[in-house]
Amino acid sequence: MTAEITRPKGELVFRTLAMPADTNFNGDIFGGWLVSQMDLGASTLAQQCSQSRVVTVAINNLNFIRPVQVGNVVCVYADLIKIGKTSMTINLETWTHSDHFLNHEKVAQGTFIFVAINEQGKPQLVVR
Ligand SMILES: CC(C)(COP(=O)(O)OP(=O)(O)OC[C@H]1O[C@@H](n2cnc3c(N)ncnc32)[C@H](O)[C@@H]1OP(=O)(O)O)[C@@H](O)C(=O)NCCC(=O)NCCS
Repeated sequence: MTAEITRPKGELVFRTLAMPADTNFNGDIFGGWLVSQMDLGASTLAQQCSQSRVVTVAINNLNFIRPVQVGNVVCVYADLIKIGKTSMTINLETWTHSDHFLNHEKVAQGTFIFVAINEQGKPQLVVR
């Protein structure tokens, strides 16, 4: 039987390095830090899609699959799965690279929903 080759789904929207300042008391990377990297990455795709300001309105089905270690390269992949009237739904996968890019694994995933907003912070149509 051939081993299944798993790859990230979506486009690379953010890449950064996990640093000692981002750890929790266990010495692993703090989950809140990871979520903010995902949010930042997805927001760039939502801004590009709507060509406007955006805010995160919901984060659904967020799963932390494996701990992230200091020194891991953290990559966020985004897949825009739905454009509503004012909202955009984006599936995210976060993968880490370690050992000088010899190893990689999926560490988190979730669905982020953004709303395009106007200067007053009110929802505005996403023009397609
Ligand atoms: C996002 C915000 C502008 C929406 O305002 P609102 O008056 O509630 O807007 P609406 O009820 O018309 O919803 C707007 C869209 O969001 C969607 N939405 C709202 N709440 C949602 C939720 N919990 N889950 C999924 N989608 C949601 C609606 O379905 C609608 O989508 P559509 O236009 O594509 O059909 C407002 O709730 C807000 O400012 N929230 C704070 C955002 C924030 O501070 N985020 C954290 C920092 S970025």
